[in-house]
Amino acid sequence: MQLKKGQIIEFTVDALVFGGKAIGEFEGLKVFVNKALPGDRVSASLTKIKKNYAEAQFVELLEPSKDRVKARCQHAGTCGGCTFQELPYEKQLEAKKQFVVDAFERIGGLQNPPVRDVIACEDQFYYRNKMEFSFGYDAEMKFAMGMHLPGRRYDILNLKECHLQSRDTVELLSKVRGFVRRRKWNPFKYSCGQGFLRSLFVREGKRTGELMIVLSTSDDIPKDLDEGLAELSEILGEKVTSFYWSQVISKRGSPKQIKEKLIRGRKTLKEDMILANGDELSFEIAPQAFFQPNTFQAEKLYAEILKLVEGGEFAFDLFCGTGTIGLFMAKHVGHVLGIELNESAVAVARENAQKNAIFNIDFFVGDVGKLIGTLKEKPSVIVIDPPRAGLNEKTIAKISEFDCERIIYVSCNPSTLARDCQWLAEFGYKVESVQPVDMFPHTYHIENVCLLKR
Ligand SMILES: C[S@@+](CC[C@H](N)C(=O)[O-])C[C@H]1O[C@@H](n2cnc3c(N)ncnc32)[C@H](O)[C@@H]1O
Repeated sequence: MQLKKGQIIEFTVDALVFGGKAIGEFEGLKVFVNKALPGDRVSASLTKIKKNYAEAQFVELLEPSKDRVKARCQHAGTCGGCTFQELPYEKQLEAKKQFVVDAFERIGGLQNPPVRDVIACEDQFYYRNKMEFSFGYDAEMKFAMGMHLPGRRYDILNLKECHLQSRDTVELLSKVRGFVRRRKWNPFKYSCGQGFLRSLFVREGKRTGELMIVLSTSDDIPKDLDEGLAELSEILGEKVTSFYWSQVISKRGSPKQIKEKLIRGRKTLKEDMILANGDELSFEIAPQAFFQPNTFQAEKLYAEILKLVEGGEFAFDLFCGTGTIGLFMAKHVGHVLGIELNESAVAVARENAQKNAIFNIDFFVGDVGKLIGTLKEKPSVIVIDPPRAGLNEKTIAKISEFDCERIIYVSCNPSTLARDCQWLAEFGYKVESVQPVDMFPHTYHIENVCLLKR
């Protein structure tokens, strides 16, 4: 039968795929569909038809999978965050392991890749230490504060509950919502560049209990700004240890500038990390700095990395961010060299080294692809933790020139990890083990620690 775009088809979903979609078969053709879980019988409208596969938009759940459980959140399936909330956690873990196996088999060209069972997250809810909520309007142009709806450029979901950050966050959200409505401060409209409120960023120290709030706005400043910020500071209460106002200044023809002002409290947020082997570090996190969003699970991730380090004179921490991996490694090797593009992240990394009295580590600001060629040291281990896009062939060739016996590749994207491992294989590196760690329950995301040996 000739298939057409817009045609409604009915089929049973077989599995989940990395990226959050599900896959099933219709008349011998593989079909990717959103919002469905394995075992569901669904109807869906075809949006793309290719020779080997098709894509479809979910229309109706005809028969739910017997595995489905009731979602905890009223926004599950709408806000775009927890796509797997209606799947039992064990099944989520099985699916995530399969994403990694599939990537290594299909993209990495490995048969029976050495992928271990996923390290589960003990707290399946309230695990995030940061969240950003946008101010805007819902589809009916009513004030809204929450998430950008998936696939809709401007529409915001007015968030009533969220079970990923701590319970305090939702309470803070409703306090801020009430405040801006009373003050009649308007959300910034991306469509025309007018309005004041852009977003509310909440960061929490899971081990320290500290809370940082950043109210981000445009430079279209209301007359009652000072009075308003003072009132908001009161409303946020004592639990909030840092309150920032961040102004995004955009002028036609010049690059966007961000001006941050500390309204009250501490400059940074303190978070501690304690690994299972007893190693402990304390971090000061600036508002813009990257920090792993799930503190307790990041401790497990770092512990897995450390198990593979095995001492040595030099270790490289490439794409080091605020230096967390390198700082933990510093206790176990002679000296660590970290490279990171983001200057402010490196400034924080240096501060964190000082604060933890770690002196056998140096951080360099720059592009790994360029800077790595200038390092003269011979590392016994190289840790790589690049962004989702992974590495490029040139950087891989340069990394290989160090002739280092062990590479620990940390990745949040199984597809680019598998591709890069195949490139590394051309330089004699073999995948010894892949340990997936679930940093984000109810989402499709999966972090991996991969050991490659020459
Ligand atoms: C996944 S994060 C790693 C964070 C860090 N390892 C940690 O655990 O906190 C990737 C980092 O790579 C940095 N980055 C991106 N491209 C880069 C490049 N070409 N050279 C150096 N660093 C880069 C980003 O700024 C980001 O901090």
